[in-house]
Amino acid sequence: MHYAAYFGHQRLKECFHKALEEQQNVVLQAGSLSDSVRDFTVSVSKGLQQSPPVLECRFLYDARGSDLYEQITKQPEYYPTRTEAAILSERADEICTLTGPCTLIELGSGSSVKTDYLLSAYQDRYANICYTPIDISAHALKDAGRSITRQRPDVQVVGIHGTYADSFPLIRCASPAMVIFLGSTLGNLTPEEEQAFWSDIAANMQVGDHFLLGVDLVKDIDILEAAYNDRNGITAQFIINYIRRMNRELGTKIDLDHIGHVAFYNPGKEQIEVYIEFLKDQIVTLPDDQEPIKFACGERVMLEISRKFRLPQVIGNLASFGLHPVRTYIDEQEWFGLLLLEKRE
Ligand code: AVJ
Repeated sequence: MHYAAYFGHQRLKECFHKALEEQQNVVLQAGSLSDSVRDFTVSVSKGLQQSPPVLECRFLYDARGSDLYEQITKQPEYYPTRTEAAILSERADEICTLTGPCTLIELGSGSSVKTDYLLSAYQDRYANICYTPIDISAHALKDAGRSITRQRPDVQVVGIHGTYADSFPLIRCASPAMVIFLGSTLGNLTPEEEQAFWSDIAANMQVGDHFLLGVDLVKDIDILEAAYNDRNGITAQFIINYIRRMNRELGTKIDLDHIGHVAFYNPGKEQIEVYIEFLKDQIVTLPDDQEPIKFACGERVMLEISRKFRLPQVIGNLASFGLHPVRTYIDEQEWFGLLLLEKRE
């Protein structure tokens, strides 16, 4: 089924109703992702021609990439998921009481595993809740929907296969709502992209709506770097899978045996930077008769940033968008923060 941008409250209610009646997970297709190979081609050729060259991290999440990311979250060095899950499990009931009944809209929901603490709390207290996960991976969305419906048949799940921008009209018409953005995925955005994101979000939230935000905090450099260089090499596989996807979908013919993954913390920018590095000279062919691009041995292409945050700065910044903290939760080691925010005038 297609997800029309100007959706309307009635239409949304009908979708939730249908999900409940048929006890199946409805996935709506947003128009923005209708030609993903085309998007990917444009993004890759543009990115590789920039200097320094870059690739957009959203294309990491094809079916295999989403599975590999799930495996990353289980690695001993990758503390964020586990730390955030512990905070959520402890605080879900309180969050649920503080917001009152509302539609839950989750951005970049992936497997929705952590969200289950919330679904459980909201379902116990309010019954028949509506949950709208939004993700660019159709595969992750379907799996997540199926498992939620199996475990919690009374939760009305309507997934949207789309980008964050596709969630804005939904947020506008779903009030009272809580937008959920976990895992410190915010850290993938540059500071400029982050400001644009908050301005769009705030413009679509009604006064009294909530936002639940998970942010990974600045900490010891060794802990940060280990999380992106796990011993089992799952992060490396996850990053190299991007190039595998390029070879498959765009025919770039990169020799996967001669590229590597490099991840380190940049203290000046307080961000992890993830690159692929060419381990021999390679020529990257591009589709549509575009000029091939040469990369020398040792050259790097930036694939992802993962910014680390400081709570006072985050809170100060969000206040300028009318988003104010209702509660601030943090684990004992002060590694990860969870903010429950409310939209005010
Ligand atoms: C999914 C964006 C939260 O930045 O920690 C994990 C992605 N990249 N390991 C992160 C990621 C490499 C992850 N987020």
